[in-house]
Amino acid sequence: MQPTDFKDPLPQHVAIIMDGNGRWATERGMSRVRGHVAGVQSVREITTECARLGLGSLTLYAFSVENWKRPSTEVRYLMRLLRVFLRRERKTLMKNNVRLRCIGRLHDLPAGALKELRRTEEMTRKNTGLVLRLALSYGGRSEISDAMQAYGRDVLAGQADPEKVDEESLRAYLYDPETPDPDFIIRTAGEMRLSNFLLWQLSYAELYVADVCWPEFKKQALWKALAAFGERHRKFGLSPEQDGGRKVSSSAGKTSS
Ligand code: IPE
Ligand code: IPE
Ligand code: MG
Repeated sequence: MQPTDFKDPLPQHVAIIMDGNGRWATERGMSRVRGHVAGVQSVREITTECARLGLGSLTLYAFSVENWKRPSTEVRYLMRLLRVFLRRERKTLMKNNVRLRCIGRLHDLPAGALKELRRTEEMTRKNTGLVLRLALSYGGRSEISDAMQAYGRDVLAGQADPEKVDEESLRAYLYDPETPDPDFIIRTAGEMRLSNFLLWQLSYAELYVADVCWPEFKKQALWKALAAFGERHRKFGLSPEQDGGRKVSSSAGKTSS
């Protein structure tokens, strides 16, 4: 497949649940952490390709609130990998005009990783191309409960009126209200679940599941996913008469490898 094989419309914001690093490694007789190392290569390639294609945003689920329950050696390794990745990738992010943002309970992260994050966010702040969002210590339910806490504080301080709450005013309390919601969500490694990812923001995203594990998800696999998105018919609850009566295309709702 070539990038020219898929046509518009491209999604504006792609979110990816990067799953299957552990399986990829164990299937090859390696330790799980080798899978995480291999996964970094896919992060690099997919980010570069999304920037080149001119997408608005890419959100990568890198570490969930639930992932803290993994063995401490794996957690420590992942945090070290994050720190090293940020340090090494800054130059490439700058070259590709990518702006880094992070969402999640970032205060849970080790100080070293957090410092590198903040430094990279600051350094890329003025970049105008792709917004790369890393979801770290992220949970959709924690995001909503954190938002509720902040909202409750504003109510108590007389700065918010519960009678006037609506979807837009609630959005303002989420981790990153500025970035538009993802219109396309990809999960690798065949699993058909959201695993607590962007529960609010994914309400109208198109779903796509790739069978390959994340370390194997490279630009050809991305093009294939984007081609499937281009075939989707997004209806937003309207009836066929209201939106021209176009049938949902044959690829919609199917999984692919
Ligand atoms: C995804 O790969 C990376 C993280 C969740 C940090 P996994 O580590 O979940 O790999 P599998 O699902 O066990 O194969
Ligand atoms: C989701 O993957 C979290 C990330 C990709 C960071 P998991 O591997 O943790 O999800 P489950 O356990 O299969 O639901
Ligand atoms: Mg997994």
